[in-house]
Amino acid sequence: MATDSVKILLIEDNLAEARLLQEFLKQAQSQDFIVVHVQRLQNALQELTQDHGLYSYNAILLDLTLPDSEGLSSLPKLIDSAPSVPIVVLTNTNDEALAIEAVRQGAQDYLVKRQVNVDVLVRSLHYAIARKQVLESLRTTNKTLETRVEERTAELVKAKEINQFKSEFVSMISHDIRNPLNTILLAAGLLQDSGDKLTKEKKSSHFQMIRSAIKNMAQLLDEVSLIGQADSGKLQCELISLDLQSFCRQLIDEAQLNLKDKQINLVFTSVGEFRNALWDESLLRHILGNLLTNAIKYSQPGGTVKFELIGQEQAIAFRIADEGIGIPAADQQRLFQPFQRAENVGSIPGTGLGLAIVKKCVDAHGGEIFVNSQVGVGTTFTVILPLLEL
Ligand SMILES: Nc1ncnc2c1ncn2[C@@H]1O[C@H](COP(=O)(O)OP(=O)(O)OP(=O)(O)O)[C@@H](O)[C@H]1O
Ligand SMILES: [Mg+2]
Repeated sequence: MATDSVKILLIEDNLAEARLLQEFLKQAQSQDFIVVHVQRLQNALQELTQDHGLYSYNAILLDLTLPDSEGLSSLPKLIDSAPSVPIVVLTNTNDEALAIEAVRQGAQDYLVKRQVNVDVLVRSLHYAIARKQVLESLRTTNKTLETRVEERTAELVKAKEINQFKSEFVSMISHDIRNPLNTILLAAGLLQDSGDKLTKEKKSSHFQMIRSAIKNMAQLLDEVSLIGQADSGKLQCELISLDLQSFCRQLIDEAQLNLKDKQINLVFTSVGEFRNALWDESLLRHILGNLLTNAIKYSQPGGTVKFELIGQEQAIAFRIADEGIGIPAADQQRLFQPFQRAENVGSIPGTGLGLAIVKKCVDAHGGEIFVNSQVGVGTTFTVILPLLEL
């Protein structure tokens, strides 16, 4: 500051007084002052606006009696236009109380005109500039601190949510593992205690129960670990070229086998162009397999499940539509979160992990999923995946 010149905006309507102040500043030894003089508040505000927020002014000297502004009313307007430029007010001998009020309202200092000399004026300006700088840096620090507090609070809230979600997740898994474990315990107990008395068929049915309970648990663990992988960003997309139509037909055949004795009419159609694109087979299998299983599971016997493959310019749409129980509107968006099941599932078994997995796999493939459903009429899931070419 000792070397650079200091730019002052002098707002003073009395020309003689303005000239005197300019003279004082010229005489200052320690500092070069550049003074821009205006006589009205309006001109001062224009000058500051033209400054385009660059704040090239280091300080403002403000006379409190101006033709277009009386007393303290000038202050807020100036502070508004140039919040970081310090203001020193100039008063007559008889309005010192007003000057003190000006300082209270944001001016950095005041000078009584008759008492001003070179030293007093220069000292006051230096002091005002230094003090304003300290205040500004305090304000910035405060702002930074406030932002950090907000960020930290948001992180804490998020961590709390994740923690709560984790404990719900653990209790749901424990619950879903306890069921098959109980089945195994029960069947193994029966085989051990009354094995001799059981017919061959009974024994075989108990063993079958044990096997399917184990299969359920293994499947649950696979699904949970897939969700875990997706959450930690480890679900990767390994692209290979694939004949989509025959891949979908194969999925339909597998679904047909799993129908057991439930009568469902499975219809597959494909329209549009299928250019050679790349797909992650495992992600596709999770997506379409789960949607087909659901469509079948939530359909009444005799219903139709339509699987449509629609080739578009930049994307492929997979549409799976059923005429089943439908999903209540209130449940539709939550279903993509783990363990969420709609209220109308009744006794149809399920864990509520399928759609969570579907969503993560669709995300990993850069696509989108939509649901359209009406209770008692049916449900259509549409998955749109972008064409990723070689
Ligand atoms: N096609 C559908 N028709 C009606 N309801 C459906 C359909 N698909 C999904 N839902 C509803 O969405 C819920 C979540 O589906 P999701 O596949 O995630 O779980 P689930 O089928 O219950 O269990 P699982 O983990 O074995 O798949 C289901 O419980 C059911 O309420
Ligand atoms: Mg399911």
